[in-house]
Amino acid sequence: MLNSTAGVRKMKIEKNVSYESDGKTYRLYDVTAEDPIQVRVRNHYYTQHQNQTVQFVEEMHKKWLNFDHAKMPILGCLDMLATFLDESDPDVDEANLIHAYQTAEKIRENHPDKPWMHLAGLIHDLGKIMSVWGEHQWAVTGDTYPVGCAPAESIVYGKASFQGNPDVDHEVYGTPMGKYQEKCGLENLMMTWSHDEYMYQVGEPITADPVDRFLGKLDF
Ligand SMILES: [Fe+2]
Ligand SMILES: [Fe+2]
Repeated sequence: MLNSTAGVRKMKIEKNVSYESDGKTYRLYDVTAEDPIQVRVRNHYYTQHQNQTVQFVEEMHKKWLNFDHAKMPILGCLDMLATFLDESDPDVDEANLIHAYQTAEKIRENHPDKPWMHLAGLIHDLGKIMSVWGEHQWAVTGDTYPVGCAPAESIVYGKASFQGNPDVDHEVYGTPMGKYQEKCGLENLMMTWSHDEYMYQVGEPITADPVDRFLGKLDF
């Protein structure tokens, strides 16, 4: 959630908390649940948290940031997600193509005067195409956070889910500030490799604002 005060943009960070709506519970991340979807989501995040290191993200940058995998229209990319299911999502069980149009249409309903936002809703998950091309889902889907510093307890499943990640015991990356300077700026954070980061990097020449890096988390 963004608001502007005297030219300074402030972001309210909300912890991952479940909530009730329409008689259903959303964003539920239960460590002990036996439900197959909950087990799938938990396995996804534990694997992500154990494997996303600074070194891994650097390797992904070399692999993906040459932008040499394909050149295609947006609608063609959307069609490639027609059968793709996001294993990290406890709430959405439709293919990502449906999720893209549902997101865009809901934004159009709620914000008819903001066409740029409709487009953002339509394309916000296109980075998941990396999994269609064979990338592990733990390196593509789900929430993101910075690497190179100690994980925050507010990350889904908490610090315990990072047990086994070599960066947690690293003399620099394992500290609260890690490899960063205080107030270094969002644009200087190294984020986990994901569909959000990929789309940010694809669009970075035209988005210009580092806050846009986090728009992928604004699922509607
Ligand atoms: Fe997303
Ligand atoms: Fe989404």
